[in-house]
Amino acid sequence: MRNQAQGLENLINREEKPKFQAISITSGKGGVGKSSFTINLAYQLQRLNKKVIIFDADLALANIDILLGEKPKYNLSHFLNGEKTINEIIYTSKKYGIKFIPATSGFEELANLPFEKQMYILDALHEIYYKFDIMLIDTSAGLSQDVINFCLASDKTIVLTTPDPTSLSDSYAISRVLLTYKSEDLDVGIVVNMVEDEDEALKIYRGIDSTLKTFVGKGISYYGFIKKDERLADSIRNIYLLSAEYPNAIYSKNVLNIARSLVEGTTPLKSKKSFWQKLISYWKS
Ligand SMILES: Nc1ncnc2c1ncn2[C@@H]1O[C@H](COP(=O)(O)OP(=O)(O)OP(=O)(O)O)[C@@H](O)[C@H]1O
Ligand SMILES: [Mg+2]
Repeated sequence: MRNQAQGLENLINREEKPKFQAISITSGKGGVGKSSFTINLAYQLQRLNKKVIIFDADLALANIDILLGEKPKYNLSHFLNGEKTINEIIYTSKKYGIKFIPATSGFEELANLPFEKQMYILDALHEIYYKFDIMLIDTSAGLSQDVINFCLASDKTIVLTTPDPTSLSDSYAISRVLLTYKSEDLDVGIVVNMVEDEDEALKIYRGIDSTLKTFVGKGISYYGFIKKDERLADSIRNIYLLSAEYPNAIYSKNVLNIARSLVEGTTPLKSKKSFWQKLISYWKS
């Protein structure tokens, strides 16, 4: 018992790298463009001199590796069972230099592992803080407790929505849940994807924001918009990164703007606790 308390104490008191940001990308509805956005955002943030890693937390349909044209042999489960070190499961896409950790469905079991093993894992995951500036977390769609925990543990959550009415109501639902939890540290913001122009995006944002203010008493940030761009489908089909190969495509430019505002709008972090510390505390509660 004393060991456990000491272990937690050590972990919580560990000095945090102040600049580091964990940003979750989520959506109520599936198929709204989260994974494509995640890899393109990672690339654009790299262009802005940020050291970025993608954590594929889509436990149901992990596909960051596929979108990057990579076939990683190992994933988080090999790290969790002690077969591989954390560095051995951080992959780099050969073509674009994007770093990522492939997903596994074993991660949610972390909370049930013996305490000593949990500490060992959290300790190793902590290394990521010293190597990277930003960790992008691609979550699965929907309101599962896993997704909520990943979002709540992050510094920022981007709710990706489209003008589709079912996407709008699901985005409202997930935002409401996130804002209802007592998490003062978390910024929740919207990116509106697949719009015709920015006016459409702003209208959608204002609608969700004012409904949240009415029913939850808290609003949500606006992180930007991405226009509909048929080139994205081609990039997925032919496994290339649109932002890298066609920097002048509308999609690439819109994602670059979002990357810029995320970098420029970086406010001092509100929490002293790391993503992993928060994640495990949400799982335990
Ligand atoms: N701005 C856009 N313009 C046109 N098509 C888009 C745009 N954004 C995404 N799409 C299309 O949406 C589809 C789904 O994209 P993606 O796989 O990235 O979504 P997802 O949210 O990660 O899905 P899932 O919930 O299944 O993980 C892709 O076919 C992609 O081409
Ligand atoms: Mg996806």
